[in-house]
Amino acid sequence: MANVIVIGAQWGDEGKGKITDLLSRSADVVVRYQGGVNAGHTIVVKGQTFKLHLIPSGILYSDTECIIGSGTVIDPKVLIAELDQLEELGISTENLYISETAHVTMPYHRLIDLASEERRGNHKIGTTGRGIGPTYADKSERTGIRILDLMDAEGLREQLEWTINYKNVILEKLYNLPPLNVQEVIEEYLGYAERLRRYVVDASLKIYDAIQRRRNILFEGAQGTLLDLDHGTYPFVTSSNPVAGGACVGTGLGPTAIDRAIGVAKAYTTRVGEGPFPTELDGEMGELLCAKGAEFGTTTGRKRRCGWFDAVIGRYAVRINGLDCLAITKLDVLDELDEIKVCVAYEINGERCEHFPTSSRRFQQCHPIYKTLPGWKVPTTNCRSWEELPKQAQDYLKYLAELMAVPIAIVSLGASRDQTIILEDPIHGPKRALLHADGTPASLLSA
Ligand code: IMP
Repeated sequence: MANVIVIGAQWGDEGKGKITDLLSRSADVVVRYQGGVNAGHTIVVKGQTFKLHLIPSGILYSDTECIIGSGTVIDPKVLIAELDQLEELGISTENLYISETAHVTMPYHRLIDLASEERRGNHKIGTTGRGIGPTYADKSERTGIRILDLMDAEGLREQLEWTINYKNVILEKLYNLPPLNVQEVIEEYLGYAERLRRYVVDASLKIYDAIQRRRNILFEGAQGTLLDLDHGTYPFVTSSNPVAGGACVGTGLGPTAIDRAIGVAKAYTTRVGEGPFPTELDGEMGELLCAKGAEFGTTTGRKRRCGWFDAVIGRYAVRINGLDCLAITKLDVLDELDEIKVCVAYEINGERCEHFPTSSRRFQQCHPIYKTLPGWKVPTTNCRSWEELPKQAQDYLKYLAELMAVPIAIVSLGASRDQTIILEDPIHGPKRALLHADGTPASLLSA
């Protein structure tokens, strides 16, 4: 039995959907612990593409229980559309459970998200516009609506009458927007409540019970480490905690429930939205990575900014999440390149810096120090074992593992489940120390 967290090691969109989908095969329960419909997973199974925003990808396995945890924020309209999509495709949603303490994204959250971004002008964050920040802000302000509130019609009426009237003042006076019709919103959300009622549970208790029964639990993070509210590139971050620590808070479990943490990173780097990105490629190379990697957001369709692999943020992700191993995705995107650069450290004001600077201002001033490696210039999408990978691709992967001092357990070479090389079982394989006893990094494949 092992309980595992899958975390994005960069700025999100690392291909976590495919990796969690693969690992879900060995899981009895998959739990999403933070974020909302800002996330988007694209999963390709037998040529069929599934786009999921809230429901864990484990739903595609008939025996896997899927739980949307208390640390998430739920937009019921989007969730119901997702349920409809799955049911139309003949996929049962019977094994889905929703935490009663998750917060609900309301229409005013979406309106305030969009309006406040516009008001920020040059200081905008580049949010997905899905109301995520305002939903979490209400949670902190203690004016949020939770799933359990949605299930109590009388209480909801009373709570929403007050809250919508309060939000209408903000919409009208601060943003010059028309007010929401209180009764219409209440009726709409009472309708959603009826549709979702059968899925609602005490998720912490349900997961704890599964742990007692020695089930394998997979904790699925959305977004990525550098988008974490506390540990990311603040203020250009999301409003929740994608890092491994967020899995405990976002599910209602203690840290002793977690056995290991797997980081997912692309073989290069992408970022959507605003904020510093030291290895960003503005010219032809950035365009090439974007085109070859189909780097457009699942949720917003926005073009992602592309750049070289950054081992400084990789090392940071290893530290912040306590990663045991990595899954490297989209290696095939680099197939045509003559040479490939990897950022090994930064230069800030003439000084070499090995560690991610916590100050955004300092991060903005970082210039990447690159090491250049030769490309392999042959297609890898059909490689199914380490031995089949070209030598230069093997060397590239070994170098990444060495720089980040963690083994690489999985290499992904395309969107399909079968376009994957599993180097070691990341769930049941041996757990390694990040450093050998003599202090040298324990690296991939060599250990
Ligand atoms: P929000 O989460 O919509 O508030 O957006 C805050 C920041 O997180 C913006 O830079 C978004 O582009 C980014 N973001 C949110 N969700 C994702 C995601 O799933 N992938 C990549 N970036 C995301």
